[in-house]
Amino acid sequence: MEMEKEHRSSHPRLVLVALPFQGHINPMLQLGSILHSKGFSITVLHTAFNSPIPSNYPEFGFLSIPDNLSEQLISADDLLPFISLLNLNCGVPFQECLAKMVQKQEVENEPSIACSVYDECMYFCDAVAKCVKLPSIVLRTTSASTYLSRNAILQLKAEGVLTSQGSTSQDLVPGLHPLRFKDLPVSKIGTPEIFLQFITNIYKTRTSSAIIWNTNDVLEKPSLQEIQKQCQVGIFPVCPLHEVAPASSSSLIKEDNSCITWLEKQKQNTVLYVSLGSVASVDKKELGETAWGLANSKQPFLWVIRPGSIDDQEWKKLLTEGFVEAVGENGCIVKWAPQKEVLAHGAVGGFWTHCGWNSTLESISKGVPMICKPCFGDQRVNARHVSQVWRIGIQLENMCERGEVERAIKRLMVDKEGKEMRQRAKNLKERFQLDIREGGSSYNYLNKLIELIMSF
Ligand code: UDX
Repeated sequence: MEMEKEHRSSHPRLVLVALPFQGHINPMLQLGSILHSKGFSITVLHTAFNSPIPSNYPEFGFLSIPDNLSEQLISADDLLPFISLLNLNCGVPFQECLAKMVQKQEVENEPSIACSVYDECMYFCDAVAKCVKLPSIVLRTTSASTYLSRNAILQLKAEGVLTSQGSTSQDLVPGLHPLRFKDLPVSKIGTPEIFLQFITNIYKTRTSSAIIWNTNDVLEKPSLQEIQKQCQVGIFPVCPLHEVAPASSSSLIKEDNSCITWLEKQKQNTVLYVSLGSVASVDKKELGETAWGLANSKQPFLWVIRPGSIDDQEWKKLLTEGFVEAVGENGCIVKWAPQKEVLAHGAVGGFWTHCGWNSTLESISKGVPMICKPCFGDQRVNARHVSQVWRIGIQLENMCERGEVERAIKRLMVDKEGKEMRQRAKNLKERFQLDIREGGSSYNYLNKLIELIMSF
């Protein structure tokens, strides 16, 4: 167990445990920044795999626990088995680490640990916290609708309505408007048993004292109310975490800030920002069609092509076909962008996104409408809400030819329809801002959460 940094303070300490993926590390460290600003000391317990960068958070303590994983094991194709392995491997070192911290706090008069806060996917933390007699709180980093739809999968499966492979039906799922059977976040990854075990594990009611949720009443009040009715402990929707207390960058990949210089040269609301987050990849055919759709639209674009997310041969082919020359100054391509800064830039008028929950919230909080191209899991649920409930985006279904890509871009960036979506997105942004100010629901829930932690 490696001590990276120690932190002394007279305030109670919170121990945070994130799932080691970008889309989960970000909200956990944002939550840490919020609670630190309220006076708590923060210690982050993390795996060696995808370790956060401690120097970005000098005010936090960081402790690495051995995960016994090798990076070769991990790919987007086997995320669920990977998460179960993580839960199997990390329990013992986490318990040893917590026990040492508790011992140290007694001997050295260190601030006492009030509780641990863990990502819903790191469910081993619950049993360990209970074992060392420490309260624990769950952080849910996906939407409330995703929670309801995953529960519906369990039920539909038990009733024999849904097979383990999911469904391609366009019919609406009863009680889950506007989701169709094909939108349900059924994983095609791993065996069906692993998927069902995963849902059961992350949603099982355990001994945790509360649930913090990166969503809010503005977006999901009815879903949250329904979940609260079924839930034994208090739910605290505080959102968007990245706006409540802007945190330092928790990026695992170096951000290329040159794209901000490029954005400075573009006109207001003209640029389409294209990014599929930290896990999704684009297949060979889709890459070519997306690239030429973007080029043919003549709309300026900023495209994040993450290393490993595209087929290198197809990219080389695009280059020999003259893609870069066709785009010229109209396009900027980077490996990783400072996304929140990009979305806040006045030149950005649309976001081509996979609808990861963080990207969805970041886009809404900056009033940017979306072209949704979900890839897997909760992204389909989010895309459906963006396009059908909040009506701030267009959803593209299945594989798109370049002509469809071009038309979607024009609809969002040029047509009246897109202007109306932009206006609705700006309205939602304002409601988000009010929600985190005094009197807003996220503001109130945060205060109640702090009261609860102080009562432990
Ligand atoms: C994963 C899952 O894939 C997603 O479905 C789930 O909702 C959350 O966990 P990911 O695919 O990485 O997340 O997407 P997302 O939730 O959008 O998170 C990506 C994060 O990376 C965002 O906070 C975004 O700001 C950041 N990012 C992305 C960058 O900082 N730079 C980039 O260039 C791209």
